[in-house]
Amino acid sequence: MKKYTTISDISNLSETIMQAISLKNNPFLYSELGKHKTLVMLFFNASLRTRLSTEKAARNLGMEVMILNVNDAWQLEFEDGTVMNTNTSEHIKEAAQVISQYADVIAVRAFPTLKDKKKDESEYVLNSFVKYASVPVINMESAMSHPLQALADAITISELSTKRKPKVVLSWAPHPKALPQAVPNSFVEMMQLLEVDFCITHPKDYELNPEITKHSQINYNQEEALKDADFVYVKNWSSYKEYGQILSQDNNWRMTKAKLGNAKFMHCLPVRRNVVVEDAVLDSDKSIVMQQANNRTYAAQVVLMQLVEDLN
Ligand code: CP
Repeated sequence: MKKYTTISDISNLSETIMQAISLKNNPFLYSELGKHKTLVMLFFNASLRTRLSTEKAARNLGMEVMILNVNDAWQLEFEDGTVMNTNTSEHIKEAAQVISQYADVIAVRAFPTLKDKKKDESEYVLNSFVKYASVPVINMESAMSHPLQALADAITISELSTKRKPKVVLSWAPHPKALPQAVPNSFVEMMQLLEVDFCITHPKDYELNPEITKHSQINYNQEEALKDADFVYVKNWSSYKEYGQILSQDNNWRMTKAKLGNAKFMHCLPVRRNVVVEDAVLDSDKSIVMQQANNRTYAAQVVLMQLVEDLN
């Protein structure tokens, strides 16, 4: 693997999932692989799981880890040819090359503006690192995708499914803040690659990018969509059409124990209790959010392993 910025960078998904499950059973088997290699993690935004699980994954492989909260460093300029006489102090061209001298792998978290769709879709932060860094880049959640989360979700479904082809539903939920589409985008892309019966349910005008949802089934009736579901992935996202806007806060879309039935409840976390989902779901044995969070380590570890194996 040369980079991990989208799930399309995985060359063999089923093998990668199996490898991750095997790492989970024996996390220190390759503890010499990353010796004298350094992962630099750059955070433009907050994180709990991604930060700790990716660091743990790197350490399981024997790697050194350095973390920079980018807001503590010089403000970066991403535009070419800018006269840098206002707020930005350092250009991404220098910054990415400098960091590459300290790192064998660079991981980046950079959320969207949710104001400028074109700019967000260009993935200008992530892609600038890919362009100017001389080492592999990992996406730790960018403007439009969260491939580490999606891989952890695929591992979780593979481990817990009791059927050859389980029914998986992605269900929108209300939220007081405008949230990115990165998690649902990557989840949709991942479900399209797995052998699952997949359906998306959300209010009208919350359609995700049709270039991502493609042929995936969309049902505007949540009750109908949830029928016979085995896994229900609940997530809020802001409107793609009315980019970044909150068009509904309808509590009828909140996940409840009654609506969930016998399905397993999934969420990437963090989750707002009793807004997105009621306590009774999160506190029940139907919730598999802890298994998902645990699998973030092995998703990151298998990606780091494949990247380090391919380093020159
Ligand atoms: N799910 C996830 O990416 O969590 P963090 O934002 O805490 O990293």
